[in-house]
Amino acid sequence: MNITWVLGQPHGHEKGSFLTVDLGGTNLRVCWITLPGARGQPSIIQERYQMSKQVKTGTANQLWDEVADRMETFIRDQRLDETTTQPLPLGFTFSYPAMQDFIDHGVLQTWTKGWDVKGVEGEDVTTQFREAMEKRRLPVKLVALVNDTTGAMIASAYHDPKTVIGAIFGTGCNAAYMEDSDSIPKLAGRLPPACPVAINCEYGAFDNSHIVLPMTKYDHLIDKESPRPGEQAFEKMSAGLYLGELFRLVLIDLAKRDLIFQGQDDSRLDKSYILDTGFLSAIEDDQSPGLQNTATSFTAHTGIELNNQERQVCRQLAELIAIRGARLCACGIAAICNKKNIKAGHVAADGSVANKHPKFKRRWADALAEIFDWSEDRIEDPIVLTPAEDGSGIGAAVIVAMTLERMSKGEVVGVKEATDMRDGSQKTAEMHNNLKKDSRRFKC
Ligand code: GLC
Repeated sequence: MNITWVLGQPHGHEKGSFLTVDLGGTNLRVCWITLPGARGQPSIIQERYQMSKQVKTGTANQLWDEVADRMETFIRDQRLDETTTQPLPLGFTFSYPAMQDFIDHGVLQTWTKGWDVKGVEGEDVTTQFREAMEKRRLPVKLVALVNDTTGAMIASAYHDPKTVIGAIFGTGCNAAYMEDSDSIPKLAGRLPPACPVAINCEYGAFDNSHIVLPMTKYDHLIDKESPRPGEQAFEKMSAGLYLGELFRLVLIDLAKRDLIFQGQDDSRLDKSYILDTGFLSAIEDDQSPGLQNTATSFTAHTGIELNNQERQVCRQLAELIAIRGARLCACGIAAICNKKNIKAGHVAADGSVANKHPKFKRRWADALAEIFDWSEDRIEDPIVLTPAEDGSGIGAAVIVAMTLERMSKGEVVGVKEATDMRDGSQKTAEMHNNLKKDSRRFKC
């Protein structure tokens, strides 16, 4: 449960142009976002760059050099440095667990989702990133470090005030919500009571001690063979990165016991992570007679020909794995709703599973209905999954705007390097050796 220092929901009139960088999945995305204010439609100029496996498992220097190089190219191509004398305000979406003492600071607790870059865990990622930007003299000021879940919540709340939770059901699984400052012992009085603060739950790490969730032998195998065994227990059972891999492990087990693929060469199935969640979605979506499409795609991926019975096995297995995942995703959201006594509202969700799996949304809603015992003849569900606005871009931009607005009023609690971007004057929270003093300067 990480404090994000995002204080309250946006009012919808945030304005200005902001740089954002999104690091958290397959691509690195750099955007220049203009918020028009009055809940208007933001404009976005963006570039995506593929992150190689080498960078995702390389060294800290390689990673930050790559990110800063891409930003440099983007700034130059868009001629952003020619339009202003002030540094460009940056929102950095970093979709990994980071402990934040300030909004512009964050120590990576552990890599998740298969990333494994040496020399970053336990370090302040904003310092490492700033150093790479400074080497290139980029005219940029990192204002906010943002988790994708918080970004999804804030970007959606910018347009839709009914948003109560931001969630990612994609490669990873996680959610953010607003908590009252007086319920957060970790804050140790740094904010006045009843001040809303966004919390990044990081509940992908729920049950890392393996005492609550009923795990199968395949779950144990996924865990054992991952770069961080013993971590992200809940995520490994529910998120997109792992669903296809679970499917592969079950099939291998059935084949070893000679129950399927008799007499066929199944060696291509031995390669980890060759089947992704898109593959499972396609199986569930298959309307072709005799599941012909499933068979064709399975042969293309593995070289194995499926007989009729094996096609049915694949379909049922894809269903079982996706149903369990969707129901676990509903449990995470239900836990937040129970804790906050949320009876109605919008859960703004992003991610490949939420957006692309054909049956996720229905299964997720059915599971919530069971948990909360919603009446069968309800006209609509009180808690609804809504497609999140672009959290890692627009969400990060809105959070930067909210933070700059606070800083311009001298409300620097939770900001490490507070510069008034209008006049360049320094308002560094570290200068206030008594942090409680700045908490009194902050109005909720
Ligand atoms: C992982 C990360 C978390 C992120 C989620 C969704 O769980 O640890 O920070 O929000 O994936 O991308």
